[in-house]
Amino acid sequence: MAANKKLLVLAGDGIGPEVMGEVKRVAAWMGSQRAVGFDIDEALVGGCSIDANGVPVTDATMDKAMTVDAVLLGAVGGPKWDGVDFSIRPEAGLLRLRKDMELFANLRPALVYPALADASSLKREIVEGLDILIVRELTGGVYFGEPRGITDLGNGERRGINTQVYTTSEIRRVAAVAFELARKRGNRLCSVEKMNVMESGRLWREEVTRLHQEQYSDVQLSHMLADNCAMQLVRNPKQFDVIVTDNLFGDMLSDEAAMLTGSLGMLPSASLGAPDAAGRRKALYEPVHGSAPDIAGQGKANPIATLLSFAMMLRYSFDLGTEADLIEGAVSDVLDRGIRTADIAGTGAAQLVSTGDMGTAILEAMAQRS
Ligand code: NAI
Ligand code: MG
Repeated sequence: MAANKKLLVLAGDGIGPEVMGEVKRVAAWMGSQRAVGFDIDEALVGGCSIDANGVPVTDATMDKAMTVDAVLLGAVGGPKWDGVDFSIRPEAGLLRLRKDMELFANLRPALVYPALADASSLKREIVEGLDILIVRELTGGVYFGEPRGITDLGNGERRGINTQVYTTSEIRRVAAVAFELARKRGNRLCSVEKMNVMESGRLWREEVTRLHQEQYSDVQLSHMLADNCAMQLVRNPKQFDVIVTDNLFGDMLSDEAAMLTGSLGMLPSASLGAPDAAGRRKALYEPVHGSAPDIAGQGKANPIATLLSFAMMLRYSFDLGTEADLIEGAVSDVLDRGIRTADIAGTGAAQLVSTGDMGTAILEAMAQRS
């Protein structure tokens, strides 16, 4: 039997510990039923860490994050910490994790489950069966480029500056992740920029094209301008398989694609870093949603986004695609039966359940499938 995988679980604030509780049950089930064992270490991040340690993430927790096989995060933040200085705010813990682990590739799937196809703002026939993956560059681009800042021009005018900067290596490493993911899926990659008006976009297109010729000519590559992509995502989203784009366009396009699917409680994500000598990438998996203070502590949170993030971890960090399929299939089965947490009760609900009962239903469906 393979060695246990080392995980760091950072449940965080609000509904984080509630949804992560269901992940721990599924992880334990994997150990006993599928011989896929996990050694789970836990630590504080976000507001709970500020309360206990005065900082949103400690150096000791960072050391753990840098050495485990994968990090799972719930959510951070809440009104209790809204007033504190930005450098020690809950979000600063998440930013430090992303920065120190150099998580440059953010993976955001948009998948429409048949039972929830009517929850989309678009017509059922446009979204039914949708399964796309957006790969957003996360550590470069206009959010980090220099020069930046607000300068006083002295004549009563001020000037705000942010600079879009990309180097060839930054473009190539995120494009390589996207090409590799495309190979494991429908083998189609669409690269998105605005090369018609931006030099960084022209470099992006040139480098993606070059990498394609050098290493990934088996993948079907297309290019699209970002404004057209925004339109195509609502006109005919099923034309896409994997999309790769920069930090700014990816921020907007991934949120747009997410809304094709319905609820925030259903959306997982992964953030990947560079491979080490053994080919293993640093990785952090987390739901897209936040700490949902309005429903925290009430057993109402939908654990599916976090469970699907765990499934992404199985697939992308450990190559356990069969086990990932088992979780995703079980989620689909449970939704088909009309089992719903409150956030997705709008379509086809037969039974309204708590966080824990949703976890139980998914575990039962996993057992039935295996
Ligand atoms: P949010 O995602 O926490 O909540 C937005 C709405 O969606 C709320 O009505 C909430 O009840 C609902 N919701 C979210 N996740 C749900 C789930 N799993 N099941 C059922 N309903 C769910 O975003 P919001 O309200 O803007 O932010 C709340 C706090 O979370 C803030 O402190 C914010 O800074 C933080 N936040 C943290 C993130 C993270 O840890 N990555 C991401 C987004 C926000
Ligand atoms: Mg966003």
